Amino acid sequence: NWTMGNFLMEKQAEIRKEVGNKKAICALSGGVDSSVAAVLVHNAIGDNLTCIFVDNGLLRKGEREQVEKTFRDNFHIPLIVVDAKERFLKALEGVEDPEKKRKIIGNLFIEIFEEEAKKIPDVEYLVQGTLYPDVIESVSVKGPSAVIKTHHNVGGLPEKMNLKLIEPLRELFKDEVRELGKELGLPDDIVYRQPFPGPGLAIRIVGKVNKEDLEILREADAIVVEEVKKTGLYRDLWQSFAVLLPIKTVGVMGDYRTYEKVIAIRAVESKDGMTADWARLPYDLLDNIMRRIINEVEGVNRVVYDITSKPPGTIEWE
Ligand code: XMP
Repeated sequence: NWTMGNFLMEKQAEIRKEVGNKKAICALSGGVDSSVAAVLVHNAIGDNLTCIFVDNGLLRKGEREQVEKTFRDNFHIPLIVVDAKERFLKALEGVEDPEKKRKIIGNLFIEIFEEEAKKIPDVEYLVQGTLYPDVIESVSVKGPSAVIKTHHNVGGLPEKMNLKLIEPLRELFKDEVRELGKELGLPDDIVYRQPFPGPGLAIRIVGKVNKEDLEILREADAIVVEEVKKTGLYRDLWQSFAVLLPIKTVGVMGDYRTYEKVIAIRAVESKDGMTADWARLPYDLLDNIMRRIINEVEGVNRVVYDITSKPPGTIEWE
């Protein structure tokens, strides 16, 4: 009979047998998939696993601290945190095209990951949190639909580095991975975290990316997450986040005219991200989000709500 507990024991035994005393590395993203994969493999092979977390400066508020706390302090998993904020900013300077941004971020990530991996002697395995839908999607990537956006930006990693892959979650769907995460003792903040794209906030700033706009978007996004969580809707939504638009509009603040940026709120319901329905968020929630963003985030004077479903829209704006 199939239970999460059995699955865990079997997977861990399988990995222990395969890897033995050899060394493995894992790219942690802060998301549920790589986190669950890392803890599972750490259970199997202990400190022969090293995790690498690249802070690309495109993360959500508090994400890096959360990863450090969870993996270093709670689970005692060897963790290397690379501060690469400046490198990513520099590489993205002046770049407007969404696909170019994705390529730049994906390539730089691989470059940095390789640099770090080389510092660990005799690594033979790479742990990845690939899920069943990812396996299916990468098979269909040959078809025309997948060319719409290049996802899975670390796809080239194992071939390039000559590492053998460990993918303990290959047969699982997202909800099963969350269940596994609970079983492994991961905190709810990670287990129920909504999906977040590899290129991060860079594809939620429409157009060119800079430090100031990243700061604006990070603050606005944190408010969206906080308010959505307060209403208890966070887990029911596939994703809920803020997008920063490259336009300014006129507003009024006291006796003054303002001329500042626009934040779009995006919230969708979905099973797998392939199709999505815009979420009918309560007006009061939208109202709180709007008020807080305009009061607390300097540089924004207007908030709009995206009511596009997928198709015809995509979930992300880029
Ligand atoms: P779209 O915008 O295509 O997104 O409707 C579908 C799902 O995929 C996520 N997404 C990405 N994930 N790298 C990722 O790892 C990417 O470049 C990327 N683009 C979109 C998106 O957040 C949604 O969950």
